[in-house]
Amino acid sequence: MPLRNKKIILGISGGIAAYKAAELTRLLVKAGADVRVVMTAAAEAFITPMTLQALSGHEVRGALFDPAHEAAMGHIELARWADLIVIAPASANTLARLAQGLADDLLSTLCLANPNPVMAAPAMNQQMWTHPATQRNMSLLTQRGVQLIGPASGEQACGDTGPGRMEEPATILAAVTAHFGEQQLAGRKLLLTLGPTREPLDPVRFLSNRSSGKMGMALARAAVNAGADVTIVAGPTALPEPQGVKRINVETAAQMHHHVMQEAAGKDIFIATAAVSDYRAADISAQKIKKSAEQIELTLVKNPDILADVSASFPQLFCVGFAAETQDLEKHARDKLTNKRLDMIAANPVNDGLGFDRDDNSLEVFWPGGQQSLPVSSKQQLAAALIELLANHYNKDHKRHASD
Ligand code: PMT
Repeated sequence: MPLRNKKIILGISGGIAAYKAAELTRLLVKAGADVRVVMTAAAEAFITPMTLQALSGHEVRGALFDPAHEAAMGHIELARWADLIVIAPASANTLARLAQGLADDLLSTLCLANPNPVMAAPAMNQQMWTHPATQRNMSLLTQRGVQLIGPASGEQACGDTGPGRMEEPATILAAVTAHFGEQQLAGRKLLLTLGPTREPLDPVRFLSNRSSGKMGMALARAAVNAGADVTIVAGPTALPEPQGVKRINVETAAQMHHHVMQEAAGKDIFIATAAVSDYRAADISAQKIKKSAEQIELTLVKNPDILADVSASFPQLFCVGFAAETQDLEKHARDKLTNKRLDMIAANPVNDGLGFDRDDNSLEVFWPGGQQSLPVSSKQQLAAALIELLANHYNKDHKRHASD
């Protein structure tokens, strides 16, 4: 029972996904957790406290000042009791109130009074999720260490399609179990590139690609969760970095190369998630290129290969590459694994709407003598799975080197 002796407050806020909280309660209890359910007033419009009481084996709490409950375990005592607060579903309103630090109901008060981590599984209409106000709230919360589970993307109860569906209870259970699991990369120093690069043509134009930085940020978060000390060298992306991560912002491949080579010394693991421009302009025009001729020619020169240079210059580093392929995925990925002398490579097919600038992805992971498929899921879930796979290989290799 992976959650034996773990004390969990399950916060349920208002939304149609509240019905899934019943299954989540059942799964948490089955995994050995002691679960106390706290519902917001809006949650009770979607599911009855009686259902959650029957499944958790404890009376459900709702009101902030309930004399009977306060006499048994006061709200501050309850906050201190919990090892973890999981909010599922976490509505846009609840997340906004947490971001503001409000304490106007029991759940928000517990989140302020609890010194331990909070995990939240957002659930809302896709328009509400993508609204800048919600995104700003999410940035604030993740910077403060709130760990997000999802949201997933797909068809919604309101008929819309897009991001905002609550992750399935089994996925939430897996994230909670991982949270309490052994930190496989504790004490390890991990360097990671992410996002696109921009190669200027003139003062206003550049060559770039569609990388959003989402896969890399998800990996940085998963590596932090696994206990690693993480440094990222990030191409242009507005995404916030997870709490505790050292971030170096760059624009061009040459700048990324420079900083990575400086940072690589003393690191244990290098992951190259960035979509680095293979070429840059031979000459950058000092003035804006004017429209005149029907055709103009650009001369491009090759950029340094950051990943290949790191693996050659720092052979002690465990090097993981990425490969974005539109065809012959395995062949190209295995060629890169060999040619760049990597320990592992994660290949994503990018011609079926996955990969670049999406919330979901799928990965085919190769290493010398083996491979594993990580099927389509959110980038955060894939990142957790890839970090676990990487850590297993790294720890095995590391032990082998240590005993050589
Ligand atoms: O950022 P997202 O929108 O979430 O999208 C994620 C992603 C699709 C960008 C990511 O999953 C991914 O596949 N990243 C690598 C994309 C790529 O351009 O791969 P490549 O096949 O061109 O390069 C192979 C490897 O060499 C990569 O690890 C790359 O970082 C590295 N490389 C490439 C060229 C170069 N000059 N220097 C490098 O380090």
